Amino acid sequence: MNVATKVDEAVSHACPALLVGCWEDGPSDPQLNQLDAALVGAVAALYQQREFTGKLNRAKLLHTFGRIAADRVVLVGLGKQSELTPDRLRQAAGSALNALQGSGIRECSSILHLAGRGGTEAVQATVEGLLLAGYAFDKYQTSQEENGRVSDVTILFPDAAANQAAASRVAETKAVCDAVWFARDLVSQPGNVATPTYLAERAREMAGSLGIRCTILEREEMERLGMGALLAVSRGSHQPPKFIVLDYRGGSEQQPPVVLVGKGITFDAGGISLKPGEGMEKMKDDMAGAAAVMGTMMAAATLELPLNLVVLVPAAENLPGGGAYKPGDVLHSMAGKTIEIVNTDAEGRLVLCDALHYAQQYRPAALIDVATLTGACVIALGPFASGVMGNDRGLTRELREAGELTGERLWELPLWEEYGELLKSDIADMKNAGGRSAGTISAGWFLKEFAGGNKWAHLDIAGTAWEEKGRPYLPKGATGVGVRLLIQYLRGVS
Ligand code: BES
Ligand code: MN
Ligand code: ZN
Repeated sequence: MNVATKVDEAVSHACPALLVGCWEDGPSDPQLNQLDAALVGAVAALYQQREFTGKLNRAKLLHTFGRIAADRVVLVGLGKQSELTPDRLRQAAGSALNALQGSGIRECSSILHLAGRGGTEAVQATVEGLLLAGYAFDKYQTSQEENGRVSDVTILFPDAAANQAAASRVAETKAVCDAVWFARDLVSQPGNVATPTYLAERAREMAGSLGIRCTILEREEMERLGMGALLAVSRGSHQPPKFIVLDYRGGSEQQPPVVLVGKGITFDAGGISLKPGEGMEKMKDDMAGAAAVMGTMMAAATLELPLNLVVLVPAAENLPGGGAYKPGDVLHSMAGKTIEIVNTDAEGRLVLCDALHYAQQYRPAALIDVATLTGACVIALGPFASGVMGNDRGLTRELREAGELTGERLWELPLWEEYGELLKSDIADMKNAGGRSAGTISAGWFLKEFAGGNKWAHLDIAGTAWEEKGRPYLPKGATGVGVRLLIQYLRGVS
């Protein structure tokens, strides 16, 4: 999808569809009043008849019959003026775009940001809403629908100064949304395509085009390093594991990097502790953490953020093949800690623990892992927030703040000592699973043991990586959650 900016008046701007924000408090906006006058009161009539009330995310498409230069107007509700937030604007922009999908209209122009006072934050929110809502994964639908999707959006500015002030923000927002699309594509790809090898290829390709250093560690190298936990998980599958390292240097040489680790289980059947069949197909999304950190790297390098960033992806498939690891097995992690396996379906923490230990060599300024780690997190927070845990309140607070700004909200759970009891093993240093109680926390606690002395945080995106129903700017399917959040966080530290 393309996004452009243009200096033009709403009434005289020619386009197939003009997107206009409307308040629930009535048509009080000067922009809207001017449009409505040209439209001989069509908008006021809709409000009067209560056919359209400006309620958040409600949209109404009007034909203009040549009364203004645009062929159509899409009115979209912004809710009450006093309740406007960047996320409401993001949602309204998504809803406006959704109102056009399937109608054959390929281009539209927007003055939605003007309702949000027109500042750069409002511009960013509307561009995000439009670009994120416009995503679809239709690579495998061989008979494409006749009416395609919107491919071009234009953001209108009343004068050259406003356009100038927002232009670079529009370009940056487009770069970040492209990275979200990249992450969504990776997650949407089925498991027979998106194998560990495929993830490694996409990482190499992306790194090549952006001048990022990329190293792929193969099984032999992992063996040499003693990554016993990651290797054990990979053994039930014929797909070889890959350990992806992306290294971007945008800061000074001495500056310690931020290290991001993403869970890259390209399919999670549960292994010998096999998952039930129903819904198992969704477990192709178990590499959404990997997609999030790879997308973050893509955006950070495109934006040339002035910091050093390392991305690590331990990638494997968790299947119950003949060589699979088993309940009762004891593994040697790279950190030297031994792990008793009580459930082979708690595989994410095993691939992550070796990656977290591998990260120690970078002496990271902050170490953050992202993972679709626990079903318990889906139960606790549903699709509306990711879980966050960590060993540094400053870091978890910065991440939560980035979550509020981006609409990728986080909720913190405690990692009190007592939770460690859940992982005590009779035969090894720890068990890999702590049972049903506090499932998200015991998983976080397990990871904490491998963070060393570093400032570390863990994001559990099990509930937020895949949208079941479809929301204004989150079409059904992969959300690409984490990319916008982490970019916002990185902007704050660089
Ligand atoms: N990938 C799953 C977590 C998951 C479950 C993500 C549902 C999204 C939706 C993870 O590997 C897993 O299976 N976790 C187990 C852990 C348990 C065995 C301790 C779980 O949550 O059931
Ligand atoms: Mn699992
Ligand atoms: Zn998993």
